[in-house]
Amino acid sequence: MTLADSLSRRDNGTTALDTLARAKSLVEPALEEITLRLSPELRPVVLHHLSGGGKLVRATLALISAKAAGAEEETGLVGALAMELVHNFSLIHDDIIDGDVERRHVPTVWAKFGVGPALIAGDGLLTLAFQLLLDEPTTERVKATRLLADATQAMIVGQGEDINSEHRSSLTLEECLRMEAGKTGALLACASSIGAVLAGADETSVTALSDYGQHLGLAFQAVDDILGVWGDPQVTGKPVGNDLRLRKKTLLISVANSKGFDVFAETGSALDQEMSDAQVAAAMELLDDCGARYETLEMAETNLNAALAALQRVPLDPGAVSELSAIAHYVIERDK
Ligand code: IPE
Ligand code: IPE
Ligand code: MG
Ligand code: MG
Repeated sequence: MTLADSLSRRDNGTTALDTLARAKSLVEPALEEITLRLSPELRPVVLHHLSGGGKLVRATLALISAKAAGAEEETGLVGALAMELVHNFSLIHDDIIDGDVERRHVPTVWAKFGVGPALIAGDGLLTLAFQLLLDEPTTERVKATRLLADATQAMIVGQGEDINSEHRSSLTLEECLRMEAGKTGALLACASSIGAVLAGADETSVTALSDYGQHLGLAFQAVDDILGVWGDPQVTGKPVGNDLRLRKKTLLISVANSKGFDVFAETGSALDQEMSDAQVAAAMELLDDCGARYETLEMAETNLNAALAALQRVPLDPGAVSELSAIAHYVIERDK
């Protein structure tokens, strides 16, 4: 049993890994089948990207959110698939933006097939998500489509802010949290409520689930920022150190800034220039010594607690609440 597994075990024996595995068995085959709707040129490109797996956190949340509203998990399946399609679109494009050559232990799409195919593979996945939801335009599905469209737009705004931040010397904590709430929180909030929307749940339940997901998203990205610096690439399947090299304004950097430490200036890194290996090593040490690493994890924990509190605001299916709680703990404790 891994550390994440044992730490995520809840009183009733539910573990996040059990829940993720159950969702995987439902979602993965369906996801592969949907790619048959892509052109014969695009499908292999997308299948390569999907071959790396992925934790399926968003799909899992979508399924449990249907259950939280008292429906069968399968009611959320179309939402779960749409969430993963949009998420994978965002990853394929994100790797072009960030210049990363490995994800999920396999070469990124742009690195293997080129930027053009990566762009249209992402476009194909994004469009497919909306086609899928609108295959049967019921009232619930149209509502779910609007929710996903708004969340996708918010994610794109966050990605734009992330790109802009590369050319700035710093971001305030508030600016950074807004950027991370957009680029990651928006899709997690949508994933956590889309199943309930498909189940025809009332507005207060949908809002509580969405608030859970928004806080979970902030916790998720805080941990992603930490893993981007101190994670083990053999485990995460992603390169380590690139956020610092590119002078990305992650939460770690903004927390350090709020404590009076300008990590880039103090390590002699110049604006619009990549950091050297020695500067990256010095920055890692400074982030640890000034307490930014610790405080970033604390912020993740604060958001974990806020996510759990949101679930208590309304009556939801107790089994689903237990699973959402296990997933939230897993997000904090994960090592990939
Ligand atoms: C990575 O998301 C992108 C972020 C929002 C941090 P995940 O860590 O959920 O990616 P996969 O799908 O499991 O690979
Ligand atoms: C996460 O971006 C947000 C999206 C992909 C929309 P990051 O650049 O922080 O995530 P990783 O670390 O590459 O997965
Ligand atoms: Mg990235
Ligand atoms: Mg990025």
